[in-house]
Amino acid sequence: MSPASRFVIYVLGSLLCGACGSADPCVGVADIMETPQGLILTEDEHQAGWGSSQCFTCHQIWRFHVADCTESMDFDMESINEMVDVEDPSSCTVCHGDNGAHWSADTG
Ligand code: HEC
Ligand code: HEC
Repeated sequence: MSPASRFVIYVLGSLLCGACGSADPCVGVADIMETPQGLILTEDEHQAGWGSSQCFTCHQIWRFHVADCTESMDFDMESINEMVDVEDPSSCTVCHGDNGAHWSADTG
């Protein structure tokens, strides 16, 4: 690899990682408590994922519940994450409701 392409890769790498570490985990995270239903998902606030019980297809476990991004409440995200079963999306319904999905043993 030429020094020039090494340099390009270095610059691209630092640009990408400028976003890591220092970034606020709540940037781009909507305040889920804004609806009267609170933590329960509504169709309007969850259009992209409504009707699905396959939460982990879209939500990577290391990317959500990183910080409390709500204004009106003070959640203890550490204890919440202890309750959540990262292999079982049906553990999400306790707080977030059924997401308009049909939950059954075979769909998980
Ligand atoms: C097809 C992809 C997809 C699936 C499947 C999905 N989601 Fe989502 N979810 C999203 C996206 C994208 C957002 C960001 C908000 C938006 O655009 O709807 C989101 C947002 C959320 C939010 C935040 C809503 C808010 O107003 O702050 C919660 C909570 C959530 N999802 C939980 C779940 C749970 C629980 C499941 C499984 C029952 C699930 N999601 C399945 C794509 C998905
Ligand atoms: C014990 C209650 C509880 C359970 C169970 C729970 N959540 Fe949450 N969830 C919360 C709270 C409180 C918030 C709002 C805090 C915030 O802004 O991140 C939240 C926010 C979210 C968000 C949007 C904000 C973010 O942090 O990205 C997503 C996505 C989400 N939950 C997905 C899930 C999924 C998927 C499951 C199941 C594996 C799940 N939750 C189970 C309490 C819970």
